[in-house]
Amino acid sequence: MAMLVWPLFGWMVVQLVVLPQSHQLAPPSGNGQLRRLWLQDHCSAGICTNVEIGRSDYVILSQAPIAGTTMLTFLNSSIAKIPHLLFDTFPDLQVLRMENCSLETFEKPQFEGASNLMALYLGHNRLKDIPKNIFLGADNLATLHLQGNQLKQLGNHSFHALKEVKELSLADNQLEELALGVFSGMRKLVELSLAGNRLQALPRGLFDRNLNLTKLNLGRNLFSAFESELLRLQPRLTQLDISGNIVQELTLNFTSLDTVIAHSCDLRRLTVYGIVRELDLHNNSLREMPHIPLAANVSSLDLSQNPLGNLQGNPLRRFTSLLRLNLSTTNAHELPEGVFKKQSHLQMLDISGNSIYSLKITIFDSLKALQYFYFQQNNWNCDFLQLLMSSFVKRKDISFMEDVTAPELVDDYVDGIACWYESDKQSKKCDSGNSDAAMELSVVRNEIKAFTEVVEKKFIKVYRMLEEMKMKL
Ligand SMILES: *[C@@H]1O[C@H](CO)[C@@H](O)[C@H](O)[C@H]1NC(C)=O
Ligand SMILES: *[C@@H]1O[C@H](CO)[C@@H](O)[C@H](O)[C@H]1NC(C)=O
Ligand SMILES: *[C@@H]1O[C@H](CO)[C@@H](O)[C@H](O)[C@H]1NC(C)=O
Ligand SMILES: *[C@@H]1O[C@H](CO)[C@@H](O)[C@H](O)[C@H]1NC(C)=O
Ligand SMILES: *[C@@H]1O[C@H](CO)[C@@H](O)[C@H](O)[C@H]1NC(C)=O
Ligand SMILES: *[C@@H]1O[C@H](CO)[C@@H](O)[C@H](O)[C@H]1NC(C)=O
Ligand SMILES: *[C@@H]1O[C@H](CO)[C@@H](O)[C@H](O)[C@H]1NC(C)=O
Ligand SMILES: *[C@@H]1O[C@H](CO)[C@@H](O)[C@H](O)[C@H]1NC(C)=O
Repeated sequence: MAMLVWPLFGWMVVQLVVLPQSHQLAPPSGNGQLRRLWLQDHCSAGICTNVEIGRSDYVILSQAPIAGTTMLTFLNSSIAKIPHLLFDTFPDLQVLRMENCSLETFEKPQFEGASNLMALYLGHNRLKDIPKNIFLGADNLATLHLQGNQLKQLGNHSFHALKEVKELSLADNQLEELALGVFSGMRKLVELSLAGNRLQALPRGLFDRNLNLTKLNLGRNLFSAFESELLRLQPRLTQLDISGNIVQELTLNFTSLDTVIAHSCDLRRLTVYGIVRELDLHNNSLREMPHIPLAANVSSLDLSQNPLGNLQGNPLRRFTSLLRLNLSTTNAHELPEGVFKKQSHLQMLDISGNSIYSLKITIFDSLKALQYFYFQQNNWNCDFLQLLMSSFVKRKDISFMEDVTAPELVDDYVDGIACWYESDKQSKKCDSGNSDAAMELSVVRNEIKAFTEVVEKKFIKVYRMLEEMKMKL
């Protein structure tokens, strides 16, 4: 067996010599304690585990270069610094994954000879800064991941020499500000993540040399405003994420965006000029629909977890191309009859987590393309729910989701969806006597007693019934 395996991994017979730093480049002398690590003990098919290199260790990998290794991944390793001869030893290295390896620092010259390196993954380490010109030599690097480190600042020369980078992640660091010229050498940059930092503002002109920028993530920073002006030169920008910044009023002005992600921003007002196709606006404070002149080009709209209330005045009438609409948890008690009139393409509709108890069944007439309809966790009236199931959901073979409401709070289930028996306005005769109403009122009062500790939903139902009673009395 060993005879078969050895030749296969022969390239990995690398001698790793670790010397205390005091020896610097001098050959090991008599007084130095020589530590030998054999990479073949740690690596198999380009995966290396349990490699330990201390901050002051001086590491020699091998006397002669080892050709043919294109990818190295280090797992369960503690490597304070990248051995500085790594790229001499592995001249063909294209991909280096050293994530979560407790990497602390770069040493010059770190990337000398790394001209074949295409992708460098250094996420989740302990890097505190990027020294000036450190990437000299990595001329062809296209992907650089530095997320989850402790970077506080970046200067004009941090990424000097990285002319080929297309994808850069600096997410989840501690960046507070960026130098104006930090990305200016990266003319080919397509995707950039700055999410999860402490940025409050970006210098005007920051992206003026990154004309191919397509995806930009600015989420989870400390921005309180966003200027579309910043990206006025980026005709290809298709995805913008500013989630998790508190930006109560937002205006976006782009020619065309595929995706805008702006959830958890406490947004109260949103205006989007230009074409936008997908909007994720969940968990905001919108009480009105976003203002989008080109609403007809929106195909996906997530408004869940906003206090929209009952949609009045047909606010969806101009969203004529919607395929997916999420109105889950929007404080709706009812939906106006014509609200989905223009949604003939809609494939997915979510109205779950509201307090709806009945609808005009004709509301569904226009939803001719619907395939997924989520309406669980409402206050459904059982009779209406039966009707909804038989005349629409099941008849059209539409997918839905069952309820999770606890049985003791529920009168009944229809196909797994919780519902309650209650008096329905339409089924009530106008001349129904006062004594009937009075009896129902007492029933309701009893219910209130019985459910003092009950979820809000139930209260809403009871409250509504009381209102009805009051009207009748
Ligand atoms: C990494 O270490 C953990 C525990 O220290 C162990 O469970 C896991 O199998 C190791 N993974 C590899 C690839 O060696
Ligand atoms: C990093 O490795 C440690 C164990 O060595 C593990 O607990 C942790 O989840 C890892 N983190 C990431 C981001 O991979
Ligand atoms: C950084 O570069 C920009 C131009 O890209 C220049 O305006 C600015 O003065 C430079 N800043 C420093 C500190 O060198
Ligand atoms: C921008 O992208 C286009 C199309 O992918 C490409 O032809 C062009 O060379 C890129 N520009 C730069 C500066 O990389
Ligand atoms: C949107 O930006 C364009 C230029 O990029 C400008 O001409 C136009 O006035 C802006 N529209 C609004 C409503 O701000
Ligand atoms: C919802 O958004 C607020 C900011 O308005 C944020 O503090 C909160 O963490 C978000 N909640 C979730 C579950 O993301
Ligand atoms: C935007 O919507 C209008 C109206 O539906 C349509 O004519 C136009 O082609 C759409 N534009 C794009 C770029 O999709
Ligand atoms: C609608 O939004 C809610 C809350 O944000 C989410 O849990 C649910 O998965 C979304 N529905 C669909 C079908 O994506």
